[in-house]
Amino acid sequence: MGKKAQTPAKGIDKIAERSEVSLGELKAVGAEAGDHKEIRIAIAGLGNCASALAQGIEYYRDIKEEDMYINGLMNPSVGGYLPKHMKIVAAFEVNALKIGKDVAEAIYCDPITTPHFVPPEKYPRTGTVVQAGPVLDGVAPHMRERFHVYEDGDPKVKPCDVVQVLKDAKAEILVNYCPVGSFKAARFYAQAALDAGCGFINCIPEFIVSERVAGDKDWVAEFKARGLPCAGDDIKSQVGATIMHRMLAKLFLDRGVIVKDTYQLNIGGDTDFENMKMESRLVTKRKSKTSAVTSVLPYETKCRIGPSDFVPFLLGKKICYIRMNGVTFGGVPLEVDVKMRVEDAPNSAGVVFDIIRVMKLALNRKLSGRLDSIASFSFKHPPIQPPSDVIAKQWVAEFIEGKRER
Ligand SMILES: NC(=O)c1ccc[n+]([C@@H]2O[C@H](COP(=O)([O-])OP(=O)(O)OC[C@H]3O[C@@H](n4cnc5c(N)ncnc54)[C@H](O)[C@@H]3O)[C@@H](O)[C@H]2O)c1
Repeated sequence: MGKKAQTPAKGIDKIAERSEVSLGELKAVGAEAGDHKEIRIAIAGLGNCASALAQGIEYYRDIKEEDMYINGLMNPSVGGYLPKHMKIVAAFEVNALKIGKDVAEAIYCDPITTPHFVPPEKYPRTGTVVQAGPVLDGVAPHMRERFHVYEDGDPKVKPCDVVQVLKDAKAEILVNYCPVGSFKAARFYAQAALDAGCGFINCIPEFIVSERVAGDKDWVAEFKARGLPCAGDDIKSQVGATIMHRMLAKLFLDRGVIVKDTYQLNIGGDTDFENMKMESRLVTKRKSKTSAVTSVLPYETKCRIGPSDFVPFLLGKKICYIRMNGVTFGGVPLEVDVKMRVEDAPNSAGVVFDIIRVMKLALNRKLSGRLDSIASFSFKHPPIQPPSDVIAKQWVAEFIEGKRER
């Protein structure tokens, strides 16, 4: 594979190296021809992650098929689909400051702390107005004020018929970005996707696609029955705490160093961290993050992972500490400490960029049910935990080329 740097698109000032498997160069089976392609996305929960995703669509609008090494993108093109082909056609929120506004304005509203890598004044109107979704359990009691939740009976806010809005907007894919602990809200939007005929991407740690929760319906079977694809659960950031921790665990395993115990502490200052102050909303988050790391090791080890504190003045920054206590040759201890500092929301948007485009290929191919390759690569809690992330990336490449069914 050639490694020549390509001319970066207008407005993209730095060029970065990509890894060996490049999805953009693969000939996709099931891709549309020509440049009039479009991927119609709906979003539930227009918070920090959605702001990063929406800003990214604008930031990378000039990327062309032949561009290769673009900062921040794992894959400028996925099977011929470029960032500019993604269009947000519907958005659902409970924040009264965002409801009724164009998405272009709502993605900068309080309490969003995502950096403005596209200045608000440069973001063109989308024509998509944010609609009021049902609150359900999306908002913890301590978050009502912070999220500016609309009051029942507020004459300025009319809760919408989510399924009808999705249908009217001709949305193809619904992305769920509700807060951690949204058991009911996540299922409400999954059902809405089913009823409106949309593929469903579950970015949050609610187990909908990856496993069947006791007493819950078999969501994967429902999506399959309606001829729709689904992918989840709990998005894995581009270079985030989970992938780094997994890589370290794999390194210890491959080099014969036993992991005696390990922990990952995370602090942050955005609403995701503020919401997670409530331990009772965190059960699936801890499970998702912990299993992502322990699944790499073929033996039991002591492991503690999760959000550790809310530090308001960090805003969108997340700080992560990973500690690995290993035992090496002759029973001698080996210790590794890693500290990472990152803007949390943009770190996940690049991954969602790829899932959306892979799901579009699945829709073109009329595939239904779980999309296992992209899930193994992109989610902390996928149906199949891959033996390594390099292998998962290979699976995605094979899926795009039509060599893997899902
Ligand atoms: N790197 C990352 O940022 C990352 C990684 C993995 C998972 N996630 C998950 O993605 C989700 C979104 O993260 P975020 O940082 O954007 O959080 P956020 O707090 O910024 O956004 C959540 C949004 O959901 C809205 N909301 C609440 N209840 C709703 C409902 N019933 N219907 C519609 N909207 C509702 C809130 O008003 C808020 O705007 C969280 O569950 C988070 O844990 C994020």
